Amino acid sequence: MTDQVDQSRRNMLFGAAGLLGGVAAAAAAVPFVGSMLPAADTLAAAKTEFDVSTVEEGQLVVIQWQGKPVFVTHRSQALLDEVDGHDDMLKDPNSEAIEEVSAEWMTPENRKYRSIKPEYLIVVASCTHLGCIPMYKPTKGRKDWGDSVPEDWPGGWHCPCHGSLYDISARVIKGSPAPHNLHLMPYKYTSDTTVVIG
Ligand code: FES
Repeated sequence: MTDQVDQSRRNMLFGAAGLLGGVAAAAAAVPFVGSMLPAADTLAAAKTEFDVSTVEEGQLVVIQWQGKPVFVTHRSQALLDEVDGHDDMLKDPNSEAIEEVSAEWMTPENRKYRSIKPEYLIVVASCTHLGCIPMYKPTKGRKDWGDSVPEDWPGGWHCPCHGSLYDISARVIKGSPAPHNLHLMPYKYTSDTTVVIG
């Protein structure tokens, strides 16, 4: 049990992502004083480029987009298999409440994966309750971090602040204080492995 939790911690890495546009130059300036920070409108327009092939199967990497942390997970076939079979546990299994940003690529077939390529899930790393960063705990079944975790929990994320649970596609579990699935953001592949977010 402990080994599984430790493994999930090891699997959370902080990745090097390239910011496109003016933000990259500002980020290189040290020391980082207030007057040199990018303006809010510049930050809001910034795009992040990332090579998903740098994320090993089973890993989660945290990158930055517009000042926000973003999870990139590389799901094995075994983890993709965990996406099915528990729609009745989910508040919004088809991601119909908040996902207008992804409508252009979210087909009925890949809706449960919430990603263009099923193996690579890219979501904002912020609990939709009050914004804490959820912890990646992809192994199925009850774990030792709280009585609120149901025995049949399918694996995914656990928010340490107030106990919200999300499945392996970051869809929120019923009974969680979080109202929505973890947010997606606009992104596209510009090569087989390069994504541009924003
Ligand atoms: S911030 Fe995640 S459950 Fe409250």
